[in-house]
Amino acid sequence: MPYAKKYYNITFMSKTSKKETVVVVGLGYVGLPLALLAKESGYNVIGFDINKEWVDMINGGVCPLGDDEKVAKKFAQFRFKATYDKDDITQGDIILVAVPTPVDEDQNPVYDYVISASEMVARTMKKGTLVVLESTVNPGTCEEIVRPLFEREGHIIGKDVFIAHCPERIDPGKSSFSAGYHIGNTARVVGAFTKEGTKRAAAFYRSIIDAEVREMKSIREAEAVKILENSFRDINIAFINEIAQSFDRLGIDVLDVIEGAKTKPYAFMAHYPSCGVGGHCIPVDPYYLIESAQRSGFEHEFMRNARRINNFMPIYAVERMQDALNSIKLPLKGEKIGILGLAYKANVDDTRESPSFKIIKHLRKHGADVISFDPHVLHKCDSQSLEDILARVDHIFIATNHDEFVNMDLSLLKKNNIKVVLDGKNCMDKDAIEALGVVYRGIGR
Ligand SMILES: NC(=O)c1ccc[n+]([C@@H]2O[C@H](COP(=O)([O-])OP(=O)(O)OC[C@H]3O[C@@H](n4cnc5c(N)ncnc54)[C@H](O)[C@@H]3O)[C@@H](O)[C@H]2O)c1
Repeated sequence: MPYAKKYYNITFMSKTSKKETVVVVGLGYVGLPLALLAKESGYNVIGFDINKEWVDMINGGVCPLGDDEKVAKKFAQFRFKATYDKDDITQGDIILVAVPTPVDEDQNPVYDYVISASEMVARTMKKGTLVVLESTVNPGTCEEIVRPLFEREGHIIGKDVFIAHCPERIDPGKSSFSAGYHIGNTARVVGAFTKEGTKRAAAFYRSIIDAEVREMKSIREAEAVKILENSFRDINIAFINEIAQSFDRLGIDVLDVIEGAKTKPYAFMAHYPSCGVGGHCIPVDPYYLIESAQRSGFEHEFMRNARRINNFMPIYAVERMQDALNSIKLPLKGEKIGILGLAYKANVDDTRESPSFKIIKHLRKHGADVISFDPHVLHKCDSQSLEDILARVDHIFIATNHDEFVNMDLSLLKKNNIKVVLDGKNCMDKDAIEALGVVYRGIGR
């Protein structure tokens, strides 16, 4: 049966008739599911990564993102060859680049991975290849950084190589292959340097996803879409984090207010306060635009403020802990506090930019005796079970809303004589905890 992409209600090539080879460069949270999706869609797929251990795991049949059951299932179904041999890049008709784009300690964008991956592809690819950058970058990166690397190798853009940008939209925490929106049915935007490049990139994505693929007028616009999306989110989270701090002073429960505001059927979009914003995207991507706009003579004050507010939240949460302890005449210094959660988001094992580490550092700076537990990141923890950490501490600080914590048997708090619960994710039953005689503090409640 021919494979029909439902969104367009038209029939594309049969899944099995796709003869082209897709090379995915960078097999992390984005690249691995992407490789699986291309394989599932009928392409011949080769995954390239500089992490040899990772490559060996993949070739040995071990899913490196095994924590995500749905990715692991696809991995078992749609095996592809992984490699760290640069010569294999030559086989790609389509090369998708999904390498990291972090910031350094001073929040300056780090382009090193994009540069080294692009240089390698430019040196090894065959003529006529479509190269798509999926990494998040600021507007202008493809033009100012990526394009010259290909031209330096003698490639003519739009003839020897078709360079496009299609920013990834994976929602971490929801499986890349979960029900609802996932990598295979989330709309995408593409932009390229030439019309043919845009068309080729759009055709490729239409052949692997069931959703709209919007052709942007330029590669710069495609780059800007991603930064807009994530800055929008960062700013809205900062706003509600600011409201939460204000409501704490006013004695108003921010969650109740958000529920009230949500009854308005238009023009309100709920965002939620917490002890901090983590992950590889939201606390990072805005800096890419802030920095590049500044180089062009524009100061993003609103975005800078959002970053400042969100960066302050771990410290604010520690202040809430201190306030809770003081209310029962205890200092922060010397108290035994258990951090529940090191991952930046519920039910994932990703600790990149996680606020938990800033919280631990700040608590220790004030003399607290801190140990940690996270069922998804056991190798980084002092305690290996919820029962153990509850038995060893007097207070808990919930830094990640993992199911294991949200669904915890609250009688364990009483049994272990826990005195304070700091709910950094506002995910616990406040009334039930207070009914046990335990002091509860949330962020804005
Ligand atoms: N993680 C997400 O949820 C998410 C969502 C949307 C967009 N993004 C963006 O996607 C990009 C990739 O993010 P990620 O989370 O997959 O990163 P990651 O760190 O999980 O994976 C990146 C992989 O690239 C490899 N790598 C680094 N340099 C390389 C090179 N020169 N050649 C080949 N491989 C190389 C690394 O070894 C690693 O395995 C980033 O720009 C990120 O901002 C991430």
